[in-house]
Amino acid sequence: MKTEILFMQQEDVIAAGILDMKKVLELVEKAFYLEGQKEIINPPKTVFGIPIGENPQSHFFSMPVYIGGDVNRPGIKWAAESMANAKTGNLPMGIDMVILSDPVTVQPVAIMDGMVITAMRTAAAAGVAAKYLAPKNAKVAGCVGAGVIGRTMIMALKQVLPSLEQVKLCDLDLEKAKKLAAEFEGEIEVIPLDSVEEAVTGADVIATMTTSRKPFVKAEWVKTGAMVIQMSSWEVEAGVVKKAEKIVVDSWDQMKENNLSIINKLVQSGDLAEKDIWALNEVVCSKKPGRDKDNEITLFSSRGMGCLDIIIGDYLYKEAVKKGLGKKLVLWDEAKWV
Ligand SMILES: NC(=O)c1ccc[n+]([C@@H]2O[C@H](COP(=O)([O-])OP(=O)(O)OC[C@H]3O[C@@H](n4cnc5c(N)ncnc54)[C@H](O)[C@@H]3O)[C@@H](O)[C@H]2O)c1
Repeated sequence: MKTEILFMQQEDVIAAGILDMKKVLELVEKAFYLEGQKEIINPPKTVFGIPIGENPQSHFFSMPVYIGGDVNRPGIKWAAESMANAKTGNLPMGIDMVILSDPVTVQPVAIMDGMVITAMRTAAAAGVAAKYLAPKNAKVAGCVGAGVIGRTMIMALKQVLPSLEQVKLCDLDLEKAKKLAAEFEGEIEVIPLDSVEEAVTGADVIATMTTSRKPFVKAEWVKTGAMVIQMSSWEVEAGVVKKAEKIVVDSWDQMKENNLSIINKLVQSGDLAEKDIWALNEVVCSKKPGRDKDNEITLFSSRGMGCLDIIIGDYLYKEAVKKGLGKKLVLWDEAKWV
């Protein structure tokens, strides 16, 4: 029997609806809910960096997942990040593929570009966290990093924080911040800046999404009652984490394997107890409270979970089938050695 795979290039993924942040937030929240209901298998990602040694420049991640419930979809994301791409700016820093399989026959059913999915789901995870942990009536967001995730972060925060009036956006490359700010003209005021201090001081929600390998958000810049979102491993200094009353992560099992994570470093040094790190699924499933005080600082940090890519990939695949998008590839006409 012929086995066919639907191949979806980036344009198909977009035509299938990936840029609909409202829908992506809904799917991401559902993934965290299903995780809390023990309906998801999402082992920690495996990672290697090359060249082998002290200073890898490219990283590869394999992220196998099964999503149960009414989704019933096994799949995997094969992700990669390139510091060379970050420097040249000729290609995206992160380039990813999503593969979906049939749960019964185990045939691959779809292969799609995962780059835009990653960018949307990463910010949507922060958006879901903000829904539960951001201050009420947040008006100002201080964002650092005007790259791919910087763009989707503004999309997500705008969607989950209807009271948001202004985004202060900082990047080492001010021109990049200016260009991104211009994309949101007419939607929300985005002020491009080249000072982190100016961007984050006094902000109701602070979000960092940079390729920096050194922390740059100081504890004294974080106001009482703010929410801090850290998308990379170590962008906020230890004092910011220590000031936070609620520390929520996407997956502690995964984060504790990342030695660069500031949260992990604080656990290893004995400054933070594992029991004080909550999973977002626990908050989404009401096993732990979201924000319950105006004057508490809350913090969310993520390492990225494959289940978000697979739940979105499954949705996009079904949309593509409905809309006749993508190209069919034949794995075999007749399988050998059946
Ligand atoms: N947690 C997750 O699920 C997840 C998923 C994808 C990416 N990420 C991480 O998010 C980060 C951003 O990814 P991206 O694809 O947007 O990268 P990108 O290269 O598109 O953008 C990064 C931006 O950060 C800016 N920058 C670097 N250091 C800075 C500093 N000290 N101050 C201000 N700006 C600075 C760069 O100039 C660049 O514009 C990366 O660290 C990536 O690993 C996390």
